[in-house]
Amino acid sequence: MAATNSVEAEQFERIKTRIYPNSSLACSELAREIVELAQSRARRGKPTVLGLATGSTPVGLYRELIRWHREEKVSFREVYTFNLDEYFGLPPSHAQSYACFMQEQLFLHIDIPSDHIHIPDGTLPRQKVFDACKRYENRIVELGGIDLQILGIGRTGHIGFNEPGSGAESRTRLVSLDSLTRRDAARDFLGENNVPRYAITMGVGTILEARQVVLLAWGNAKAQVVARAVEGEITDSLPASFLQRHPNVRFLVDEAASADLTRIRHPWKTGEVVWTPALIRQAVVWLAEALRKPILKLTDAEYNEHGMAELATSHGPAYDLNIRVFNELQHTITGWPGGKPNADDSVRPERAKPFPKRSIVLSPESLDDVLWMGGTLSRLVQQGNEVTVVYATSGNLAVPDPQAIRAVDLVLEIEKNAGEGARGFTQLARKVKDQFLKKSPFDSDSADIRRVKGLIRQEEARAAGQICGLNLESIRFLNLPFYEAGHYRKFQPTAQDADLIAEVLDEIRPHQIFVTGSHADPLSVQGICFHLLERALLSLGARPWLRDCYVWLYRGSESEWQSWEIEMAVPLSPGELAKKIQGIYQHQSQRSQTPMVSDKHRETWQQAEAINSATADLYNRLGLPEYAAIETFKRWSPGATGEAGLK
Ligand code: F6R
Repeated sequence: MAATNSVEAEQFERIKTRIYPNSSLACSELAREIVELAQSRARRGKPTVLGLATGSTPVGLYRELIRWHREEKVSFREVYTFNLDEYFGLPPSHAQSYACFMQEQLFLHIDIPSDHIHIPDGTLPRQKVFDACKRYENRIVELGGIDLQILGIGRTGHIGFNEPGSGAESRTRLVSLDSLTRRDAARDFLGENNVPRYAITMGVGTILEARQVVLLAWGNAKAQVVARAVEGEITDSLPASFLQRHPNVRFLVDEAASADLTRIRHPWKTGEVVWTPALIRQAVVWLAEALRKPILKLTDAEYNEHGMAELATSHGPAYDLNIRVFNELQHTITGWPGGKPNADDSVRPERAKPFPKRSIVLSPESLDDVLWMGGTLSRLVQQGNEVTVVYATSGNLAVPDPQAIRAVDLVLEIEKNAGEGARGFTQLARKVKDQFLKKSPFDSDSADIRRVKGLIRQEEARAAGQICGLNLESIRFLNLPFYEAGHYRKFQPTAQDADLIAEVLDEIRPHQIFVTGSHADPLSVQGICFHLLERALLSLGARPWLRDCYVWLYRGSESEWQSWEIEMAVPLSPGELAKKIQGIYQHQSQRSQTPMVSDKHRETWQQAEAINSATADLYNRLGLPEYAAIETFKRWSPGATGEAGLK
């Protein structure tokens, strides 16, 4: 990566931002800092007051603090904590309450006295909330104020639950949650409809009074909002931007979350850079996109006028640069994602030989595969490769109750009509139906309910796979144990999970593996599955087949790879795109349970279509052929995750 931490590179940043290769490194550094702070204050006979956040972001930090306690015998007896927020209406016993989250993720594992812990009370009657919020603030003041406040950031730019519109002076109070925030929490609550509408949160003003603030952000989903908070204007439409006013604030981000900062996105604007081939490609594509001109029409004058004179002088003229990058992009396009047999493959993304290839698509949950590479999958099959789709997890946590109730009702109906037929499954259906009758929307699913939900997802995956041309033997379900035993944000993968992946890999000995590239959030199912694959590959060590195996990453999050990152672009014809949409459509349980009313809430297939067509449009604008849609991939290279990679 071209970024440096030099002052020059950071000139656009109004908040000190440190970029780490991965979140684990950032968490271990910050945990050490917190331990040192607490120890040095304790030596002076002073307690330490920490402001804490929940969500996926700080979990790695909490694990490190627990490690300090367990392994280094660090004590937290003199630490007081104030949590930022709590859902309104949820008691601490509720699995999704922040009180429960904090107990499970931190407090139960360290020696902090329970009366040192403060979390807003979500169970108060409304008329008592105002006074309780005041008392919360007073208690912070009584304890001498917050020494260090940990924050995450929501995609709306919220800190705590201070959604857009929250003022810089806002205090601890009852707020209503933004629809995007509720959508992001939908998985935790097994459906958006179950997500509380209100929360109690510390105010922006309360947060700004902490002596030190550290905001953490991981993953590309946060890249845009991080850049706006760090480099944009201060505005209440992005409450995190108010942090620019704090005298002692830092952002710690991983590489994925730093992607939109000027020093990463346009490093040449921040000073002298080393023009690597990758950076040249990035700069030329950026210029063409900024001017909305095809690459081959860029002129020397345009390079000069846009701060790229040095590039044009050292690697130009424009004509040469244009041709070079145009060719590179052109060579990413291939209709043969498994390699084209008997063709010159010197400038193709995949090798011609061996043919056919054994290809594995490792899909963390069913739907990831069709969503991100449905067209490529169909092509691989159609072109004669031996494709196996391996679904790592059952995905049962993502099935809304009404879908499962309909399924068991159907089984019961079939039984009624079939007389003395299949007993076992109808017994299960009846049991599950009883369990549903007793279950409230906030309760966790029983093992039986999860089994039925898992079966629903398997059936959907088979239907979608068949549309992509797969036969049923080519579809495997691993039902990895970490998922079956866990819940979102609380999964605990083990070596057994990695071994199960290693076993399939070693059985199939693939020439290609396709897997999600969305692994920056180490708690997400995608992140966990990616890291399990990584462990599985490491455990397989020097297997000869591994030396000849390419790993292709599809993006697997809300946007595509950046145009300059793409290493394989697979065009889809209108017919192939329609087929892919039909495949996505088979995943009925993953469709929104209510009709979509605004463009902001698009169906999954619409999002996929929009992303794939936008990539095609972009290629076309850059001067490349006009396709209906394009799916893209990047090869996994060593160090790309900050951990061991392959290439
Ligand atoms: C949680 C909180 C929120 C989260 C933010 C990011 O206490 O205050 O502001 O920090 O929503 O959530 P994650 O970490 O789950 O991406």
